[in-house]
Amino acid sequence: MKKLLKGLAVSLLAISLVGCGGDTAGTEAAGETAAAQEGAAEASGETKTIGICLPTQELARCLKDQEYLTEFLNEMGYEVDVQFAKGDAATQVSQIENMITNGVAGVIISPWNGDALTTAVQKCHDAGIPAIAYDALIMNTPYIEYYSADDLEGIGGLQAQFIVDTLDVENSTEPYTIEIFSGDQADNNANYFYSGAMNILQPYIDAGKLQVLSGQTDRNTTATPEWSGSKAQSRMDTILSTYYLDQDIDAVLTQNDDLAAGVISACKSAGYGTEDKPLPITTGQDCTIAALKSILAGEQTMTVYKDIRTLAQNASYIIDCLVKGETPELENTVTYNNGAVDVTATRVEPIALTVDNLEELIIGNNFYTAEEIGLE
Ligand code: BGC
Repeated sequence: MKKLLKGLAVSLLAISLVGCGGDTAGTEAAGETAAAQEGAAEASGETKTIGICLPTQELARCLKDQEYLTEFLNEMGYEVDVQFAKGDAATQVSQIENMITNGVAGVIISPWNGDALTTAVQKCHDAGIPAIAYDALIMNTPYIEYYSADDLEGIGGLQAQFIVDTLDVENSTEPYTIEIFSGDQADNNANYFYSGAMNILQPYIDAGKLQVLSGQTDRNTTATPEWSGSKAQSRMDTILSTYYLDQDIDAVLTQNDDLAAGVISACKSAGYGTEDKPLPITTGQDCTIAALKSILAGEQTMTVYKDIRTLAQNASYIIDCLVKGETPELENTVTYNNGAVDVTATRVEPIALTVDNLEELIIGNNFYTAEEIGLE
């Protein structure tokens, strides 16, 4: 197996790609294919550049996206032009336009605002430059055919099932209390996380086994603008001081690590975090360094480990095929409708990370060093 697959917990993952134009199956074969294509981008004598558009440098995960995409594309013989949109839709549009002017061979776009790129993607199409969506979908355009995605509903389902299993809701005679914190209203991913979670929680809520004392369960009322931890914190402050005066909260479905951090701060301010009044179960995703430290400290209960390496590998494979004018051969795909067309998406299986498997997943997969997460 080539360096391309170094450190991957391959056997745990739902693998979706096979060789571009080949007849092999499975990731190992895909890795070999990609490795065999090493240098193919230079075959014409001219090194091609792939534009990588990432939403912001502020999110730790985006730095991982940059690192892995660069590594895979370089291995395939491409140069990369990485741009961070600084959390601004207009900046991302002009970065894509500059890439077109500079003659990139293809673009991988992780949108800051998936609704704001219709024209930019149309310009890529008009210039004959393939563009694919990465991590979040690009909406309302027929010119995005492929999307390197996580299993979005699966992530929400994993978070919800974790709560249900940890509390043993099924066998409990007493009801448990729960609140829900979903992501930014404009983030299409958050809709899927939400529906994946509610498919599991709603039957227990309906049966009275889980009680949402605030009554706030729909996507709108649970949404957290900009995925802001401090906005989650102030909503949680209000919920606790209004609805949880006589009863403790047992669990909070928080869709990512930033929301979990805000909710945990609010709970601590309200006196949670002692033996008599333990912190509620909280969920997350992204494996931020802060969340991993919080899990090690016994505060946040879980996060979802999303294998960014495989996400980047899938995107690199797809864009390489498209640049060569070939059709990617993909397995285990789903489609997401972006308002204009059904977009073919690869999926990376999410994994629940707790204090028990933290070291194995994070250190074992070279996600962070032990030092970075304060283990040495
Ligand atoms: C991503 C999550 C991230 C969230 C906030 C979502 O679209 O899938 O990984 O936590 O945005 O940045």
